[in-house]
This record gives sequence, C-alpha cells and structure tokens, in this order.
Amino acid sequence: MKALVFLMLTALLAPAPSLRAADARANWEANCVPCHGKEGRADTAMGRALKAKNLTDPKAQAEFSDAQAGESIKNGVKKNGAVTMKAFGDKLSEDEIKALVAYVRTLKR
Ligand code: HEC
Repeated sequence: MKALVFLMLTALLAPAPSLRAADARANWEANCVPCHGKEGRADTAMGRALKAKNLTDPKAQAEFSDAQAGESIKNGVKKNGAVTMKAFGDKLSEDEIKALVAYVRTLKR
C-alpha cells in the first residue's frame, strides 16, 4: 500500500516534459535575462559590463559542457575572485537547473 501511494505521488508530482520546458523558459526570463538577454545574446547593459558570452554563438556554446553549465548555474561564476554570475543553487532545484541547461542549448543559432 505504501508503495502504491508513493507511486501515485510521484506520478502526480512528476511534471510533463512540455511543462518543464515552459518552466525553464519562465525561470530563464525571471532570473537570467538581465545579464544574458532574452535570446542569450548578452546584449544588455549588465551582460556587456560582465562580459557574458553570446549564447547564440555555437563557439561560445562549445566552451562549456552541460555539467559545467549546471555547476555555474548552481554555484555561480567568478572571475579573478569577483562574482560575475550569482549562484542560483538556493533558488532553483536540481531539476530546474537541468531544464535550464537544456533551455540554454536551445538558444544556439
Ligand atoms: C548577474 C549577471 C548574470 C545572471 C543573472 C546570470 N548569469 Fe549566467 N553568466 C554570467 C556571466 C558574466 C557568465 C560568465 C561569462 C560567460 O560564460 O558568459 C555567465 C555564464 C553562464 C553560462 C556559461 C557557463 C560556463 O561554465 O561557462 C551559463 C550556461 C549561464 N551563465 C547560464 C545562466 C542561467 C541559466 C542564468 C539564470 C538562472 C544565469 N546564467 C544568470 C552572468 C549572469
């Protein structure tokens, strides 16, 4: 019985893939756009000031692995000891971070 309840709960709680993609876009727009820009071009004042990469550029995308991207989103990015991208590990779940990495990959043009 316990196992059945657990199964039912996980089925209820596991979001559908399309929902996760929508979540990732919402999370991107809520947290990442000020620096990375809506389309990932980093064409914002903060993006330029912090020298964020143009994530639509395949070369920029090739410079980090999915694991590194997840790590950067979770723990932030530092350059010469200064935080350039803040950490989101306290705000976003592992799943949300994974979905954001996948979303970042879709920005490539
Ligand atoms: C305060 C500005 C800022 C915010 C907000 C921000 N970033 Fe960044 N991000 C940067 C900078 C600066 C870098 C380092 C330069 C680069 O790689 O573009 C970076 C790097 C990255 C990288 C490349 C990782 C690597 O290891 O090279 C990814 C992926 C990324 N950010 C995703 C995100 C996501 C997803 C969010 C929102 C949850 C986010 N960023 C929010 C500024 C920001």
